Formats: sequence, C-alpha cells, structure tokens
Amino acid sequence: MSTTHAPAQDPGGRSAVRTLRRLWPYVRPVRTRLFSAAFIAVVASCTGLLFPLVLKWMVDGPVADRDTGGVWLGALLLLGLGVVEAVLFGFRRWLVARPLAGVEAEMRADLFRHLQRVPVAFHDRWASGQLLSRGTTDLMMVRMFLAFPLTFLLVNGATIVVGMAILLAQDWTLGLVLLAPVVPMVVFLSYSEERYAAVARRAQDQVGDLTTVVEESVLGIRIIKGFGRHRSQARAFRELSGTLRGTELVKARLLAAIYAVIMTLPELAIGAALVLGSVQVADGGLSTGTLVAFLSTALALRWPVESIGFLLAMSQEAATATERYFEVMDAEPESDVRAEAGSGSGSGSGSGSGPASASASASAAASGKARAVAAVPAPRTPADGIRFEAVEFRYPDAPDDTPPVLDRIDLHIRTGETLALVGATGSGKTTLTALVPRLHELTGGRITLDGEDIAAMPRARVRTLVSMAFEEPTLFSASVGENVLMGADGGAGAEELGRALAVAQAEFVHGLPKGADTQVGEQGLSLSGGQRQRLALARAVVGKPRFLVLDDPLSALDVHTEALVEAALRRVLKDTTALVVAHRPSTVLLADRVALLSGGRITAVGTHQELLRENAEYAWLMSGGTDE
Ligand SMILES: Nc1ncnc2c1ncn2[C@@H]1O[C@H](COP(=O)(O)OP(=O)(O)OP(=O)(O)O)[C@@H](O)[C@H]1O
Ligand SMILES: [Mg+2]
Repeated sequence: MSTTHAPAQDPGGRSAVRTLRRLWPYVRPVRTRLFSAAFIAVVASCTGLLFPLVLKWMVDGPVADRDTGGVWLGALLLLGLGVVEAVLFGFRRWLVARPLAGVEAEMRADLFRHLQRVPVAFHDRWASGQLLSRGTTDLMMVRMFLAFPLTFLLVNGATIVVGMAILLAQDWTLGLVLLAPVVPMVVFLSYSEERYAAVARRAQDQVGDLTTVVEESVLGIRIIKGFGRHRSQARAFRELSGTLRGTELVKARLLAAIYAVIMTLPELAIGAALVLGSVQVADGGLSTGTLVAFLSTALALRWPVESIGFLLAMSQEAATATERYFEVMDAEPESDVRAEAGSGSGSGSGSGSGPASASASASAAASGKARAVAAVPAPRTPADGIRFEAVEFRYPDAPDDTPPVLDRIDLHIRTGETLALVGATGSGKTTLTALVPRLHELTGGRITLDGEDIAAMPRARVRTLVSMAFEEPTLFSASVGENVLMGADGGAGAEELGRALAVAQAEFVHGLPKGADTQVGEQGLSLSGGQRQRLALARAVVGKPRFLVLDDPLSALDVHTEALVEAALRRVLKDTTALVVAHRPSTVLLADRVALLSGGRITAVGTHQELLRENAEYAWLMSGGTDE
C-alpha cells in the first residue's frame, strides 16, 4: 500500500458538466423532490424581486401623497412577502435534506461493494488513503453539490434573468448600464474555472495521499515507535500537509480573484446607474419610486450574481470528486469467467475458453446463490485433487522485460494428499497459493480442482471449495467467534466453532474474558502473533473445506505450541487435499510429498527424505530452517 495513485487524466481536457451527468443514475430516484425543490426555490427567489415593486408603489403613491394607511398596507404586504419567501425556502430545505443524504449513502455503499469485488491486483495498485478519501470527503462534496450549487445555479440564474427583465422594463437605458459587465465577467469566469478545476483536482489527490500517511502511521504505530521513527514520520506528514496547504492557497487566491471581479464589476455598474438615475430624476425624466425600485432590484440581484463564483467553484470541486469516485467505480470487477488462458493479460471480462464452458459457468453462477446449503458440492468428475498444468503467472504491474514469477508450473496434488511447498524466500510460494482460490488470474496454463478448470467456475464456488490461511493472520474488529466462523457458510455455529478451535489448538480462547465472544481489537492486535495465527488456522478449517491451502501456517508459534498444532493439523490434513507452504522440516513432515519451487519452476517433487538425499538446494533450505 505504499504506491500513490497518480491523477488519471488532465482535468483541463474534461467537461465538468459531462462528469457531473454521471451522477444521474443516483439522482434519478429523488428527481421529483429535487426538481420540486428547485422550482420552489425559483419561486421563492423571484418573490424576493417583488419587494422593490411594492417599494416603488409605496414611494410614488402613499409616501408622496402622505397617506399613512397606504404606507401601513405596503408594510404589511412586504411582511407577507417576506414570510412567504422564508416559508418556501424552508420547505425546499426540508424537501431535499433526506433524499440527498440517501443519495450519498447509496453512492458510498456502491463504492464499498465495488471495492470488495475488484481484483486483489487493484488493491495492490491503489493506496488505501486514496480510496478512503474518495469514500468520505469526495462523496460529501458531491452531496453538497446536489443540495446547494446544483439548485442555486438554476435558482440564481433564473432570478438574474427575471430581475434583469424587471430592470429593463423599469428603464432600459439604466438596465443596459447594469448589463454591461456581463460579457467580461463570463470570459473571466470561464478562464478561471478551468484553472480552478486543475488545482481542485490536485488538492483532492493530495488529501488522498495525506490520508494514506495517516492510515499507515496508525497501523504501523508499533514499528514507528519501536524504531523511533516518529520524527521522520511527522516530517513526512508535515511536508505533505504543507504541499496541500500550498495547493489550497493557490485555490484561495484563484477564488479571491474570481470574487474580486464578480463583486467589483457589478458594484461599479450599480454606482454608474445610480449617478445616471439621479440625474434623470433631477431632470424629471424618471420618478423617484422607479429609481428606488430599480436600485433595490439591482441590489437584490447582487447576491445571486456574487454567489455564482463560489457556486461554480463548488461545482468544479464536485466534478473533480465525481471523477475521482468513478475512477474507482470504473475499475473492472472480478469477472467470473476469465479471458482465455494464455491469450494475454489475464484480467478483463472476456469469454470463457469455449461456448460449453461459458454456459456451464453461467448455470453454475445461477446455482452459486444457493451455496450456503452444502459446504462441499458433489464433484462432477471423479476426485482428482488439485492440478497445475503449465501454469504461468506474472503480476499485472510487473515490467514487461522481467521473467514471470511462475513459469510453466506442473504439479499434481492427489485427493487426500498433503503436499508441502518449499522454496527460498521470494521464490513465489505465496503467489502460487493465491492462484488456487483465484485471488489472482493466471496469465497462462490452467488449474483444475477435481478436473474442473477454476477459470470456468464461478469464484464463489472456487472459494467454497478452497479454504486458505494466509502468511499474515489478519483478523477483523469483531468477536473471536465471528472471526473464525467467517471461514464457514451461514449455517455453522458453536459446534463447528468448538471443533475448529480444538483443531487449531486455540483453546486459549476459552480463557479470554468473554470466551469466543471476546472482541479482538482492530486487526486483532490485542492478541499475540501465535494466537492470531491459530485463529486464522481455525478459520481455514471451520468450513471443512475440500481443499486447504496454508501459507506457512506455523511460523509464529513456539516449538511447544507448534507441536500441538501439528498434531491437530495432522488430523485435519488426513481428510482433505492440502497444499502447505513450509519453511521448517517439522512442517514438511506433515506432508506426504514435497515440491521444491525454484526460479519460478517446480524443480523437484518427492518425499522429504528423497529430496534431502538428492537435492542440494532442498537440503540447504532445510538445514537453514533448523537453525531458527
Ligand atoms: N502484489 C505484487 N505485485 C508485484 N510483485 C509481487 C507482488 N507480490 C509479490 N511480488 C513479487 O513476486 C515474487 C514472489 O513473491 P512471493 O510473496 O510469492 O514469495 P514467497 O515465496 O512467498 O516468499 P516468502 O517465503 O518470503 O513468503 C517476489 O519477487 C515479489 O517481489
Ligand atoms: Mg510468502
């Protein structure tokens, strides 16, 4: 998670409107409310424009005639209009608040669901902070845009048009004076908006980077403290946040320039109109009431005009946020049937290896929904174990000129057999094991489970058949029991839990304050390494999987516990077909046969004793192992 995702595109080249249009599917369900709210706001805002007309009537009528009753009537009318305007705006707010919170929640849920469905390779590439910031600040910006700028750009636009019409109707020469700044303002605004968009994008990406640093420092707090790295970590944070501050300042300066122009030009025009109008009133060419009405209309239009600057700025930020949101949403989710083996990158949504397999997988996908019924669906072919046939794999982001991590791997793990996988560090053992449950897609060859190509099976089924314990025993913020039962389908309960805990020698659980209901801290950090590893092992075996893949499951155990777990594992392994990555002879001894992975190939297969005698590399690896 150290890589930083770079901005995908040049923001200058995209249209904010086109980007924001992608929000439509989410907005569609609430469109009636949103449009009604906008309509009500337009009416409310235009109601405000009636004030000057009432004023004009009062100044030219009752005030000029010294008619107190008329003045009271006018005042009451103004009060009434004020109340109507306030009620309408309040009603608008009430109309939009709930549905928009719903839109945000829906988008966030979609993002989360999508993040669970994209391939592991996607998460290798994307920094977690970038994803986090997209799911939080960016979505908040989108909601704010829907609640405010979207409506008010429309409302203020309509108000300006209606107000201008009223002004021109009052006195068209004065009206034209007010209209004069429009053209330079539009030109200036469109120029600044483009620059603003670029800076906004940069700022939001930097927020993502900052989030990543915070997240890593929190998760890695033990290492940071242990190595006394808090100063350098703080420095890294300060630098990033300084950069962000710089970007925000550029944004603020741009916004200030926009404001300056948007506020000054209309003020100048209003000033000019005031002078011209006063001269006309003195000459008797214009009634006082008309001038009062004209100027108060112009002043009433000041807010709609001035707000356009920051409404556009907010819209730009929302467009950037939308773009960032959809960059994630556009990532291809794991497709059930991968592109034909050996034909290229291995990712993507191509068809299966033939019409037959494609339709088979489609029907399997349909039935996959009901997978909770049986943990081990009946094999369609005779039990054949796990077969690797000419398997080739390279990581999607590896440079083209590097050799593949795994190159033409041929391996057969017979039903009921346990095969240990041994190899130097970095030789690709973890990579190989991750291919079995389809965490990565092969770039060549095929893997079959009981004769069925995993590429043609729905992932859900593959992952029901295969259970894994990873090198890093990750636990979640949940109870111990919930963590273990994650490995089983819905039906599993206390009985299965007890059995799995016994198998994994995780009886320490019963000594915890609340037994299996004890909450483990974030990532299980409240437990010891060995405890976590045993729980991960229990999780792997609780569903009684047909195939078990264990990546170095005993590495963090003390010799005594290791012996206990091994004894228990031996019982589990007897009933399953298993691939076990092993570093130490004691683990290797659990297996029926051993395969040696070296240079991306399987260079030797045999029993521990045979390999020890015949293979120098194996003997060397094993002797290194005993030194631990
Ligand atoms: N997500 C990834 N993207 C690109 N390359 C990777 C990725 N994960 C691992 N690699 C590379 O693949 C090679 C094999 O890594 P792998 O983790 O499979 O080794 P390993 O045999 O499990 O090592 P160890 O015994 O230390 O656990 C390494 O050279 C590593 O740099
Ligand atoms: Mg490994």
